[in-house]
Amino acid sequence: MSVMESPKVTVVGAGAVGSATAYAMLIRGTARTVVLYDIDAARAEAEALDLTHGSMFTGSNPVVGSSDIAATAGSHVIVVTAGAAQKPGQTRLELIGTNARIISSMIPRLMAASPDAIIIIVTNPCDVLATLAVQETGADPARLFASGCVLDTSRLRGILAERAGVATQSVHAHIVGEHGDTEFPLWSTASIGPVPLLEWTRDGQHVFSADDLHDIAEDVRTAAYRIIEGKGATNYAIGLSATRITEAVLRDENAILPVSPVLSDVDGVDGVALSVPCVVNRNGAVPVQQMRFSDRERELLHASAETLLRTVADVRG
Ligand code: 2OP
Repeated sequence: MSVMESPKVTVVGAGAVGSATAYAMLIRGTARTVVLYDIDAARAEAEALDLTHGSMFTGSNPVVGSSDIAATAGSHVIVVTAGAAQKPGQTRLELIGTNARIISSMIPRLMAASPDAIIIIVTNPCDVLATLAVQETGADPARLFASGCVLDTSRLRGILAERAGVATQSVHAHIVGEHGDTEFPLWSTASIGPVPLLEWTRDGQHVFSADDLHDIAEDVRTAAYRIIEGKGATNYAIGLSATRITEAVLRDENAILPVSPVLSDVDGVDGVALSVPCVVNRNGAVPVQQMRFSDRERELLHASAETLLRTVADVRG
């Protein structure tokens, strides 16, 4: 498996999500160089300094903090986290007014400094922002995509694993669609190891009923709202999700992850970024071609796409 020599990653935004992403990369030794870029130089430098002070324990390289876009030059992966975060009770889509301006002003300059970079949009609403960025820059959708439902899928797998009594890595289930209120699980292909989800038993009893699955899906869909109510933002798990996607790119893994590229006729969905299982490697993200959706899943996928397309149309006026 090819590994990029001396990979350089830029994390854009030194707020709660960006600094958690840089921290996750430091702990996991994701890249040789991590640049934490923010228009607030003092914040970027202070976060980077604080992160670097732990490098005796992480064995990986220092983080560079800067407000100079030149510091990001030559990045292999750029993770964009800058922008306003949800306030308690606010939906991700409601952030579009503020964050569309921030992202569309930033992306062209980042691309000019790192023309070969794979760009991962984490800022919310990430699907809409990735769609707008591809439309405005003409970027290859495989190379500029949103982090999408990787985080939601981790939330789902954690709940299923705990109920089933197995390791999270042994749960095969995906959340797809909008990274937001219209997301949904692909129950028709979910399994625990080789066992279809609804057939899984524990102590001779079936673990999951149809009602359970409905409640679990709702639990995942509303998870961020609960965390934001309690601590004002989510940051650790989204930082780990962005780091995992970055590693799949840098290590050319061909990992299947539910990220969100602008789709071209995936089961009739076209021209909008939303999450489906994708193969992620050094060339970016390409949807799995063999996807089979149940009738209900296809209905939900199109409903999610229509919600996102409406928001894109509203922004473009
Ligand atoms: C999350 O799902 C807020 O999109 C962020 O944690």
